[in-house]
Amino acid sequence: MSKDQLIVFDTTLRDGEQSPGASMTREEKIRIARALEAMKVDIIEAGFPIASNGDFESVKAVAEIVKDSTVCGLARAKQVDIERAGAAIKPANSGRIHTFLATSPIHMEQKLRMSPDEVVEAAAKSVRMARQFTDDVEFSPEDAGRSDPDFLCRVIEAVINEGATTINIPDTVGYNVPHQFGALIKDLIERVPNSDKAIFSVHCHNDLGLAVGNSLSAILNGARQVECTINGLGERAGNASLEEIVMAVRTRQDVFPCDTRLDTTQIMNCSKLVAGITGFNVQPNKAIVGANAFAHESGIHQDGVLKSRETYEIMRAQDVGWSNNKLVLGKHSGRAAFKSRMAELKLEFSSEEELNEVFARFKTLADKKHDIFDEDLLALVNETVIEAENESIKLVSLRVCCETGETPNATMTLNINGEEKQSEASGDGPVDACFKAIEKLTNTGVTLQLYSVNAITTGTDSQGEVTVRIEKDGRVINGQGADTDIVIASAKSYINALNKVMSNAGRTHPQMSAV
Ligand code: KIV
Ligand code: ZN
Repeated sequence: MSKDQLIVFDTTLRDGEQSPGASMTREEKIRIARALEAMKVDIIEAGFPIASNGDFESVKAVAEIVKDSTVCGLARAKQVDIERAGAAIKPANSGRIHTFLATSPIHMEQKLRMSPDEVVEAAAKSVRMARQFTDDVEFSPEDAGRSDPDFLCRVIEAVINEGATTINIPDTVGYNVPHQFGALIKDLIERVPNSDKAIFSVHCHNDLGLAVGNSLSAILNGARQVECTINGLGERAGNASLEEIVMAVRTRQDVFPCDTRLDTTQIMNCSKLVAGITGFNVQPNKAIVGANAFAHESGIHQDGVLKSRETYEIMRAQDVGWSNNKLVLGKHSGRAAFKSRMAELKLEFSSEEELNEVFARFKTLADKKHDIFDEDLLALVNETVIEAENESIKLVSLRVCCETGETPNATMTLNINGEEKQSEASGDGPVDACFKAIEKLTNTGVTLQLYSVNAITTGTDSQGEVTVRIEKDGRVINGQGADTDIVIASAKSYINALNKVMSNAGRTHPQMSAV
């Protein structure tokens, strides 16, 4: 018997971006969207076009570039929102409008101040409007997890009659538990008279740590679309994690009556990209994508795995894209070997010049670092993209002095808009001294909110990858940098963030601007 398809709707670029501090620039959204497309995600929710011009432009840019996934824009049940979403998804090969209106008593009474009859009417009207822009319309009764099921049936029947093709049931506040949420989905599908005309979807938040459990229970009860994010990013405790849902369904095909069309070997790529761009690092013991997810520490486990992998492993690390720190290239590797490994990693170049540029960086790195791993190659591409975006400030040179009992001191030369400038500063540590030296030259007045450093691979010769988050006039901006020297990596990440400040790329919290 052939299995149903489980549609994967990724909302990393919309709900994921609503995590405080996780704002992304248009270019960053495009990079993530390309990675999601390469992973064969069915639908990419690229943003909330009415929230700001930046959000509108990002959704539009993703719609122009992505060809193999449907691109979706979110809209409240309001004409202005729907028109803006319709315009943003217009360039897409396949575009969807996702409109929502709250249906729980508390939201209707306290937030919307609308009667249930008014909500039914507004929901139906919003779908009717959205259908003028696309045939692919999704409706979400917000806070469905705390709504009256009888009322939900009424709203859902009305919006399907107006042409909604996907009905998404959100557990907006993460209040539900699996057996009850599954029963709700089953009940709705059975009781809504026209339920066969739409696909039922779920969108679970993780406030009680149950987002994935609730989503899986819904799938067992008839849901055929799941809304999720890479690394479980999202409002508050996050959304259901894409990698966990997809791998649970794939690994337990004996239990689930459906499967996704995802290329799961792209999961690690996406996870690293999202973690790097947002600065939300993945906890080491996180399922599937955490550094320890496939590590066996105890002697008994190691012995068992060496004798037969299946003794303690239910999935293969390679199937989700772990490269087992394989040595891929070294100092003597040529351009052809480099190009072919990049293609295997699905890292594409827009031109021969770009390939040459990354290859030159590879050679420089190989001079400093004997063994080059896949993770290093990803960081090189990252760095090239980042520097291509950086226009006003460039790092020319950095000298840092640290000695026991002495105050660390940094001497820095930057090229700012074509002019070289030098400064010197002391600090509590080498990174502090370095950031102060940059600030002396740029006078940006930004506040540092987050500084984090991670080793890209194992070993003391590993490159350090630094993420900083800075704030300026309510805008939150992330910056990244990588280098075998972590102080240089820190300077690069700070400069990357400052360049975004200069180019106005950072954004306020997307939903704040839409209230
Ligand atoms: O959590 C939620 O209810 C949402 C809706 C917009 C679907 O994100
Ligand atoms: Zn949500």
